[in-house]
Amino acid sequence: MTIMLLQTVTLPTPSALDPRGPVAAHESGLWWGMLAAAGVIFLLVLYLLLRPLFRRNDDPDVAPAPTLPHDTDRRWVVWGGAVMPAVVLFGVFIATLATLAAVRMPPHAADLTIDVVGHRWWWEVRYPGQGFETADEIHVPVGRPVRIRLTSGDVIHSFWVPQIGGKTDLIPGQLNETWVQADHPGTYYGKCGEYCGQQHAHMALAFVAQSPAEYEVWVRRESAGAQAAGDSGAVVGQQLFHDKGCAFCHSVRGTPFRGDVGPDLTHVATRRLLAGGSFDNTRGMLAGWIANPDVMKPGTLMPAVPMSGAELQALVDYLESLQ
Ligand code: CUA
Repeated sequence: MTIMLLQTVTLPTPSALDPRGPVAAHESGLWWGMLAAAGVIFLLVLYLLLRPLFRRNDDPDVAPAPTLPHDTDRRWVVWGGAVMPAVVLFGVFIATLATLAAVRMPPHAADLTIDVVGHRWWWEVRYPGQGFETADEIHVPVGRPVRIRLTSGDVIHSFWVPQIGGKTDLIPGQLNETWVQADHPGTYYGKCGEYCGQQHAHMALAFVAQSPAEYEVWVRRESAGAQAAGDSGAVVGQQLFHDKGCAFCHSVRGTPFRGDVGPDLTHVATRRLLAGGSFDNTRGMLAGWIANPDVMKPGTLMPAVPMSGAELQALVDYLESLQ
């Protein structure tokens, strides 16, 4: 029996209560409001529960023996059991509607649209206006509302970046829309919010909010095709990318590789994460992922392709040249 310990990437745990954009701020405001209301009600119930315990027996108002329900008891049932819960639930309902209304539309028209397609288990991210696509990583300029169109290539997933906003489902055959806005630069992490199979827990994405200037630099780089393979290892690796069948599933813009099953790899070397946020994008993880995908991420659709150690090194050389 082989016991294998895999070092998966440890991403920061994003908290929806540490909002960095208007949608998440509304959502966390609702949460705090509900917590406050629940706290007050909890204390009230606790008081009513404990009060008889601390009553002295010689209190004149202590009933001598249990009695059958009479008017006073019925008042408790009606007010405490029906009227008060109805008022509280109605209040929560109104607060929820107000939050939904507040986050339904961006404050001003979103002039940037990003298409996100969920896959088992990674995120396809397309920038239709800019004409490129990437994976497991969304870049946005700070302070600007961004329209996100969501669909799925297989089962239902859910888009959720807790510090920015969500969740909205990605449903096969349906286009759902949401919008996001980040008010502070930084890298936030998103998670799939809907159970989607064996590796649901390893379906993360990096949400990178950048200053407009940095964002433009990123867009220019992503829009460009891949750099030509330079050193000899990368040249051999590029040929192997074709010969070993990688190009059936993956595309590299600027080359004849046009597969559209797996993630676009045009600038894979610049990404922070691999395999739907499962691993840091290091040379070792990349090589291990290619050599043994099903061990690294059981259930993945990425097949293992037999190759020698030297071939694997050359293939990784090529992928690492895709800056
Ligand atoms: Cu995709 Cu859970």
